[in-house]
Amino acid sequence: MAEKVTRFGVSVESELLDRFDRILRRRHYTNRSQAIRDLIRHELIGKEWEDSNTEVIGTVSMVYDHHVRGLTQRLVSLQHEYTGKIVAATHVHMDHHNCLEVLIMRGRGREISDLVKRIRSLRGVKHATLSMTTTGSHLK
Ligand code: NI
Repeated sequence: MAEKVTRFGVSVESELLDRFDRILRRRHYTNRSQAIRDLIRHELIGKEWEDSNTEVIGTVSMVYDHHVRGLTQRLVSLQHEYTGKIVAATHVHMDHHNCLEVLIMRGRGREISDLVKRIRSLRGVKHATLSMTTTGSHLK
């Protein structure tokens, strides 16, 4: 029996939709529904890791303006709260204002995603991305 399918309407700014359609053409999608289904699935998979107790390895990349008062200290203090979970950290001075910092973390999915949320909430952090993978320990 076919899976139940629900149709829903989405309102979106025309310019945003044009940009989305351009990406879809580049990725060889033939219709928007397929692309939106993939986006939803991708988002849900990410959330599963985020809430999990499973041990994962995660890489956090962030770009921030080190001129924002107190930000560097806040980031250092925050990282010290996660001692033992941050396996490695690299700092690159990108230009006059911007720093790139990459953290390699090992811990429960939930803990790692909490740190990323806290980093993103700091003023002066332009963006922070997280990619997670399994350590394989639960696959035995
Ligand atoms: Ni720097």
